[in-house]
Amino acid sequence: MLLVLKSSEEELGCEAARIVANAVRANPALRLGLATGSTMLGMYKDLVRLHKQGNLDFSRVITFNLDEYLGLAPSHAQSFHHFMYQNFFSHVNLNPRNIRIPDGTIKGGYAQYCSSYEEAIRNAGGIDLQVLGIGRNGHIGFNEPTSSLGSRTRLKVLSKETIEDNRRFFALGEKIPECAITMGIGTILEAKRLLLLASGPSKAAAIANAIEGPISAAVTASALQLHPDVTFIVDREAGALLKQQEYYRRVLEMTAILTPERL
Ligand code: GLP
Repeated sequence: MLLVLKSSEEELGCEAARIVANAVRANPALRLGLATGSTMLGMYKDLVRLHKQGNLDFSRVITFNLDEYLGLAPSHAQSFHHFMYQNFFSHVNLNPRNIRIPDGTIKGGYAQYCSSYEEAIRNAGGIDLQVLGIGRNGHIGFNEPTSSLGSRTRLKVLSKETIEDNRRFFALGEKIPECAITMGIGTILEAKRLLLLASGPSKAAAIANAIEGPISAAVTASALQLHPDVTFIVDREAGALLKQQEYYRRVLEMTAILTPERL
């Protein structure tokens, strides 16, 4: 596990974009797992900048998004489809055929739809690099506390905490989605490399529990402890409750000297 501590949200976004850009340059047909949320905005902004400068070609990249709200059409301003097109897809040269986001408009046949999403990931050859955010309650994707650590893509009921966190994005009186389609923890753990971004004080407990707490379905991000290649990029506030900061700093220094390709 690598932990990169950054002093601001902006630096965090640049560092994440650098890692994704390097992965795309090393493998132009990268299978890239993507996430939504405000923490991702800096990374997408910087990836778009690199693309516009002519430094980054997405024409052969295949993307799979982690999740989508159930009941929101792609045109809804709060759908993850909308977020992805507005902040990233519309500004780079991804082939639209290579973009996959769970469909939030399906009505029934959920298990079948979700296994077809898993099949699409398998048929593409698996995900090379999966980007993740983290919820205040330690969720990744929409794998809420108590999600099976072996879970696959499925329909998931959102926790009250997550619904409350999202309320501010919806109009007064508007019905807030109570369910989502999300990749499972088992799906996420199969990606070759994981990159988790967190910023701000509201994520500090989730980050400390995920990295230094026990592996538990109560904090689904703690399952990343089972993965052989995870990089956390956090800002000072999100990393504030980590007890072993000094050790992570030394690990990073030695990694830069001994195995710089991991960075
Ligand atoms: C939602 C998404 C998660 C994301 C989280 C954090 O819950 N399903 O994938 O990690 O939001 O969002 P933010 O970055 O806005 O805090």
